[in-house]
This record gives sequence, structure tokens and C-alpha cells, in this order.
Amino acid sequence: MQIQIFQDKESLHRAVAQMFIEAVKVKPNIILGLATGSSPLETYENLIKDHKENGTDYSEVVTFNLDEYIGLEGSHSQSYRYFMNTSLFNGLNIPLGQTNVPSGTGDVNETCEAYENEITNAGGIDLQLLGIGTNGHIGFNEPGTPFDTRTHVTALTQETIDGNARFFESADSVPKKAVTMGIQSIMGAKKIALIAYGSKKAAAIRDMVNGPITESMPASILQNHPDATLFLDEEAAALLKPQ
Ligand code: F6R
Repeated sequence: MQIQIFQDKESLHRAVAQMFIEAVKVKPNIILGLATGSSPLETYENLIKDHKENGTDYSEVVTFNLDEYIGLEGSHSQSYRYFMNTSLFNGLNIPLGQTNVPSGTGDVNETCEAYENEITNAGGIDLQLLGIGTNGHIGFNEPGTPFDTRTHVTALTQETIDGNARFFESADSVPKKAVTMGIQSIMGAKKIALIAYGSKKAAAIRDMVNGPITESMPASILQNHPDATLFLDEEAAALLKPQ
């Protein structure tokens, strides 16, 4: 794993955005894996700004998002489809038909199988963006998820429900289940960029980097990925062993 530590969030987001912009320029029909949550928001703002100012072209790009809440339609303001449309896709020239977010409604087991097939048929993910939960989850692969899982339905832990309650009226209205790409799906990406900032993420970052590779710390599997880079601020990196 490569680790880059930034003094402030702004330079961190600029660096991640630059990685994505360069990748799109090198391969205009790139397959991107994308995340929701607060971690990538300003990176997405940077991508939109660059698209408007410099015309970076997303017309051939295809995207696959990590996850979606079960029970929320894409039109729901807290669904991840809605988040992606409003935080990124609507600001770029990517046709919405080339953007994939797993559906949280209908036959979700069918969705899981179809989603994996679509990723494979597209040629696999070239560059995957990740955040990390305070409990070490990536996507919604909570601690204890087997490393060999592909897209599946999962129950969210109370820690994750509480962590995401800030986006809902109360913790009670947070969906209790989600569909998520699995650890094996994520590890299949050719290149991975993980964003973490703030002291709340410091223990998870320490455990994923310096701890053993274990299913109880899902992100620790990234130690085995041949091309994963962590983009951290100083607070998130504070508990790392000096390199
Ligand atoms: C989001 C996702 C999650 C988040 C993680 C961190 O699509 O898969 O793993 O990346 O929960 O969330 P934030 O960025 O809100 O701290």
C-alpha cells in the first residue's frame, strides 16, 4: 500500500481528483468504481470544476458504485443513486445510462448477480475510489464479512447506522440493510484510491495498515492489493507507526 499524507483536506481532494482526471485522459472509456458518503464529496466537486474549466471528457466513461440502501428508490433524497446524480453525474457530461448504482428495490438477489456480471462484461474496474468506516468497513462490507464475497445483501451494524444517521431524520429511519459490492469485487479493481480524514478514522487506518490482515478489519485486505494508495490527512494518519 502506498500512503500519502496531506496537511489539509483541500490538497488531499485535489490530489485524488488529479489522479482520476489523469486516468480519464489516458483512458477515455475507463471503468470507474465510485463511493458515496462525506469522504469523496470535495473530490467530486473538484472533478466537476475541472470538467467545467478544462473540458475533461466523461462521455465514454462507465461507472459502478459500491452500494445502495435496500428499500430506497433512486429518487429518495438519501438514496446513493440520488447522491451520485446530484453530487457528481449531473455536473459532468457522462450519460446517466453509463452510470451504475445497484438497485435497492425489486429482486435484490437478482440485482447482485446482474451487477457482478455487468462489471465483468465491462472489463472490470480500472480505478476504484473508497472511503472507510470507523469500524474498518469498505463498501458496506462490515467486520466479519468473508474476504471472498462478491456483490451481496448485508445487514448494517449499529455503528454504521449511527454513523449515517446524520443524513436522516433519526437513526430509526436509516435503512438496516444494503446491497454492496463484496470484498472480492473491490479487490478485483486494477487500482484503488482510499480517502480518509479526521481523527475519527485514525484507529481504523492504524488497524488496516499496521494490524494483521483479518476479516474483522475488512480494509486490512488492501495490504494485499498490488496498487492501492491511501490519501490521508494528518489526523487520520496520527496513529500510524512511523514508516
Ligand atoms: C459509501 C461506502 C462506505 C463509506 C464509509 C465512510 O459508498 O461504501 O464504505 O465510504 O462508510 O463514510 P464517510 O465517507 O461518510 O465517512
